[in-house]
Amino acid sequence: MHSKKLFTKLLAFSFAASIALTGCSGDDSNDKAKPADTKTSEPTVIKFAAQADSTPATKELIAQFNKKQDKYKVEWTEMTNDSAQMHDQLLTSLSSGSSDYDVISMDVVWAGEFAGAGYLQPIDAQMNKAEMKKTDFNAGSMSSGNYEGKQYTLPFFPDLGILYYRKDIVSSDDAAKLDSGDYTYNDLYTMAQKYTGKNKTKFGFVYQSKQYEGLTVNTTEFSNSFKDVKGGLETMYKFTQASFEPKDLLNYMEGETATAFEQGNAVFARNWPYAFGRIQGKEDGVTVSVDQVGVAPLPNGDAVGGWLLGLNKNSKNQEGAWEFIKFAAGEEGQTIMSTKGAYLPGYNALLNNEEVKKANALLSYPGFQKALTKTISRPVSAEYSKTSDAIQVAAHKYLSSGKDLDQAVKAIEDAINGK
Ligand code: GLC
Repeated sequence: MHSKKLFTKLLAFSFAASIALTGCSGDDSNDKAKPADTKTSEPTVIKFAAQADSTPATKELIAQFNKKQDKYKVEWTEMTNDSAQMHDQLLTSLSSGSSDYDVISMDVVWAGEFAGAGYLQPIDAQMNKAEMKKTDFNAGSMSSGNYEGKQYTLPFFPDLGILYYRKDIVSSDDAAKLDSGDYTYNDLYTMAQKYTGKNKTKFGFVYQSKQYEGLTVNTTEFSNSFKDVKGGLETMYKFTQASFEPKDLLNYMEGETATAFEQGNAVFARNWPYAFGRIQGKEDGVTVSVDQVGVAPLPNGDAVGGWLLGLNKNSKNQEGAWEFIKFAAGEEGQTIMSTKGAYLPGYNALLNNEEVKKANALLSYPGFQKALTKTISRPVSAEYSKTSDAIQVAAHKYLSSGKDLDQAVKAIEDAINGK
């Protein structure tokens, strides 16, 4: 199998409004025709296809770019948060040769597929011209967007699965144990049992269990990157059945998970860094405060995820599209993403930037730093969507019924081994 590097193992974190003076001055009373060369033209619209963001970061990123210059105006086509659904929508557009989108945000698990299919414009020449070095950016993300030696993407934001816990509920001994990463899912189960109900909590541990890409991520984590598929599934089932879990856990995506935790209903939650951004930024609906929140590595490793920015090969605005990508992935853009949304900076120097660290407390949490050393990856496959679908279907079927565990294990192992 010619497995391309769609994805990489380590997240090596070692990481005016352009209202182009339209000339519409209402008081232009002397009615003389203006010479052509003083007419300012409308900015070129750059269409940015990116997933919805429940933090203010993406919106702010675009606003800042539009304010900085008046040649281009980025417009965001807000897409779904379901990665596979977004994949299919983009595929329909790109495979028809459409130039509807200029800049595309892509999940690390399928960016390589798009590059391989010839939908993206390589950016090596532009990077050279701008004197940008690949090593300035998050290594894992960069290799996810590198296909046959060519670079097709820059990081929008790298992602990492982490455990959120209520610091005001969990004992300091348990908190220390969690932060160290030296605990098991069974320990977490015992803690969930012990603490649910405290400070008006209703749920123990919430995570993503719906049949979608997030279930592949969570199965990766519970099974220690598929080293123990049977054990991982059994543990997930044990949680699903527990009286301290929400009844509709099998329908949970990141959004439901974030809501349960940020509204004070869950003691523990598995989510990505943006969930911290929402709490830190006191976004709508958030009632839990930052000082009530602890962050720890997950027991069997933390899955790497993230999103990448690429340029549609058929874009009619290549120059403007590149200008926006350069801004978004560079120092300024990544500072906005990391300080407004608590995203991990994909531009490495920012990991040691005091301003960024001050504004994004997550980066300095010991439990978070520990998680960075325990990263694991989803399966690497030339046909990633097919593999992931098979994992989701088998896992969800078992988790909803508790039946035919061995069959589910076999289906998942076959999918990983490309059978
Ligand atoms: C996050 C991750 C992405 C993953 C998705 C699953 O968006 O960044 O890599 O596929 O969650 O729901």
